[in-house]
Amino acid sequence: MAKTNIDIKNITKENLKILIDKKSIENRVASIANQINEIYVEKNPIILCVLNGAFIFYADLVRHLNIDFEVDFIKLSSYGSSMESSGTIRMIKDVSANIAGRDVIIVEDIIDTGLTINYLRKRMIDGQSKSVSFVTCLLKDRKKYHFDFKIDCIGFKIPDKFVIGYGLDLDQRFRGLKNIYTIK
Ligand code: PRP
Repeated sequence: MAKTNIDIKNITKENLKILIDKKSIENRVASIANQINEIYVEKNPIILCVLNGAFIFYADLVRHLNIDFEVDFIKLSSYGSSMESSGTIRMIKDVSANIAGRDVIIVEDIIDTGLTINYLRKRMIDGQSKSVSFVTCLLKDRKKYHFDFKIDCIGFKIPDKFVIGYGLDLDQRFRGLKNIYTIK
């Protein structure tokens, strides 16, 4: 993740620059939902939202689906109030459903180092899910990731910069912004 000398508490909307606008996000979400609609007919998947960051992408995505599905939520944390991953994943709330024998779609807002999805995949294997697939709104362009499996669906590939808005926060701020922004 890019380092900055800015004090994060002093960042305001004036410091933000649009990276992906609302309309582009809406179009991409609809197209991802169409893919899920085709692949998961009659599979009744559990669609798992990774809290907190994915909640807006998730809510937009599931409202485009016309298949049967169940919702569930898992809460993990790797960043705390910092702009860089701590390198350690903390489970704050585990999945509630019994995932054994079920097709699970994991919905993430962003994959950065990949530590979180690696942790999630292990959790799904331990829980004996029938299948697990990953849908992420954003994938950061990095030389190296902490996972070695395929990401099934990527909304946008973005440069290795800190991004906020559309669910993504800076020390818990800015999650409600409709566009995705970088910091100027
Ligand atoms: C963010 C994001 C992903 C994870 C990706 O979560 O929502 O879950 O980091 O980073 P990684 O690929 O380096 O593991 P964060 O820990 O910031 O919590 P939040 O979703 O509550 O903001």
